[in-house]
Amino acid sequence: MTAEMSPIDRAKYVAARRAADLVQDGMRVGLGTGSTAAWMVRRLGERVQEEGLKIKGVPTSTRTAQLAREVGIEVVSLDQAGWLDMTIDGADEFDQEMNLIKGGGGAHLQEKIVATASDQMVVIADAGKEVETLGAFPLPLEVIPFGWQTTRTLVEEVLDTMDVLGTSTALRMDGDVPFVTDEGNHVLDLHLHRIGNARQLALVLNQVPGVVENGLFIDICDKVVIGHGDGRVEIRDINEGTTETEQPSDSDENLFLDIAD
Ligand code: 5RP
Repeated sequence: MTAEMSPIDRAKYVAARRAADLVQDGMRVGLGTGSTAAWMVRRLGERVQEEGLKIKGVPTSTRTAQLAREVGIEVVSLDQAGWLDMTIDGADEFDQEMNLIKGGGGAHLQEKIVATASDQMVVIADAGKEVETLGAFPLPLEVIPFGWQTTRTLVEEVLDTMDVLGTSTALRMDGDVPFVTDEGNHVLDLHLHRIGNARQLALVLNQVPGVVENGLFIDICDKVVIGHGDGRVEIRDINEGTTETEQPSDSDENLFLDIAD
């Protein structure tokens, strides 16, 4: 981390830290992927070391698995865990109903499986991720490499019939070569600009042969922990219908200084 954290990084950091404190001894926890989730994994690692917190972590990507092991979290597979008490993960966008776009890091397939196998999904995000309508962030679509161009054509035909503003698609690249997910697949990013009916789109996209999973998370998220650049944290709970706001404490300022080095 550089000496000066940007307001967005501060926001991600406080959200991640607050959410990590929701984890209790004995829990089986889904560990998300991305920069916000990485802060959460590091904080859980601290709790394991400092408090002797006992948890089993189910990572949603190889990079999260590596980080979790590095910070001392016991890592198990989803099949070993069976069912999870909680998954904590980032998001690219969330709306008022806590529907999400995920997959900016290309891990949405495992993330969706893990979140769906959890009693609770807690999303951690900076406040800038909140949108009125999903779709400004390109929607990730994991597709199998075999015949991906045909799949893309079919997807574009489907998009023409949907309530979206744009229909262009792009194969995600990793430098000069197509990006490859942990499952060995490719990702198409759908530039839709505005998704009128996310629930319908999520169902229809998954019907196209060659599509493995889309990045729309509908009715999966239970709680959003929203961080702000000034250290404030909002916790919204869709089941309780509540929003709590927590102000930063003086010790939070020290935390920023600690991690800035
Ligand atoms: C990875 C994801 C990430 O959670 C999402 O892209 C948010 O990332 P970040 O916390 O780095 O902003 O869905 O597939």
